Amino acid sequence: MAERPDRHEPSTLAFSTQAVHTGNTADSGSGAIRTPIIMANSYALPDDPSELSWSATDTLLYTRNSGANQLALQEKLAALDGGEEAVALASGVAALHAVFFTFLRSGDHAIISDVTYDATYRLFAELLPQRYGVEATFVDVSDHAAITAAIRPNTKLIHVEAVGNPTTKVAHVAAIAQIAHDAGALLSVDSTFTPPPLYRPLDDGADLVVHSLTKYINGHGDAMGGAVIGSHDLIQAIKADAMVDVGGVISPFNAWLIQRGSVTLPLRLPRHVETAAKVAEFLAADPRISFILYPGLASHPQHDVATRQFGGRGYGAMIAFTVGAGGDAHLRFAQNLRLITVAVSLGHDESLLVPIANTDRKTQAFYPDAFKERGLLRFSVGLEDPDDIIADLAAALDATFGDL
Ligand SMILES: Cc1ncc(COP(=O)(O)O)c(C=O)c1O
Repeated sequence: MAERPDRHEPSTLAFSTQAVHTGNTADSGSGAIRTPIIMANSYALPDDPSELSWSATDTLLYTRNSGANQLALQEKLAALDGGEEAVALASGVAALHAVFFTFLRSGDHAIISDVTYDATYRLFAELLPQRYGVEATFVDVSDHAAITAAIRPNTKLIHVEAVGNPTTKVAHVAAIAQIAHDAGALLSVDSTFTPPPLYRPLDDGADLVVHSLTKYINGHGDAMGGAVIGSHDLIQAIKADAMVDVGGVISPFNAWLIQRGSVTLPLRLPRHVETAAKVAEFLAADPRISFILYPGLASHPQHDVATRQFGGRGYGAMIAFTVGAGGDAHLRFAQNLRLITVAVSLGHDESLLVPIANTDRKTQAFYPDAFKERGLLRFSVGLEDPDDIIADLAAALDATFGDL
């Protein structure tokens, strides 16, 4: 077969071109133009392996260190988020844990957003302090004076979500990066709700960006994965400590599925975002919706920050709202949906709604009162026709409360 000229340098290519090509190489054995799924635990050793590092993460040796599909996905993820390097792991939680495990030691202190995915809250409220002596302070990250006041001499990490799960609190990443760096701490940003090209936290000074690939980046609801992207040195540290020696590596099949799903990310994301804006307008105008938070609405407390930070590319596709005056109305509303799927997760092709109970669980201590009193409906707006989504919401409202 004729030798092909070298591929383009990915950094010179536009985002959508990178989403198609980066990480994909023709298979030299078969000539197939897509990177095949390589379901092998090990790769053939050179005749003399004495120079080989058994814990190398950039050579094909053993799939817990680096499989061919994982390397391909990592190359693309680094390019899409504008980082030097990426590590792909088994789930978003594995990626979060990898950051905390690698960069925090006993006696260190971390500042964590008061609105985060539940597992992050549990890690810092219970597991890391109780088992490993890591100190943590939960702070309202929209209050920059409160973040500064929480800094201690041993603060090593600030961790926020660009748009927080589930209440959509927006963190102003550039300002928080400044606070972190003045204190000699790292800033990690979970950007699962705001994948690139909507937002790239590294461009605003974050040291590490974390994604649950399970969500928008794969986009099809059929494979779990997680990633951390950042500088070569920081990601090497994660690979050495949290990947090779803890082992939460992504499977080759999932890496391949996510590599494939991510090809259409630049097409899917604007559609999610446009539909979410329409749905949020519809919900905000209906008096049966008793409280709504969506960063694109002028009523959202961080609307202006979101407008500047996301630079006109929209506000994501996650909406938090509640209905009626309390009791089990939010549960009845969810039961009355016919098109929208009631299930956990987000960022899938189909719309997903999860009713979060109005209990006094610790993770809900920081919710606005309306959600504490009436329950919260977390809505991931999918790729269906906006009119069909709105019609389903309207019909469920009518079935729950009667026609207005
Ligand atoms: C913001 C955020 N981070 C991390 C995770 C965890 O991802 P995974 O379910 O892939 O472990 C989730 C899951 O919902 C999430 O919403």
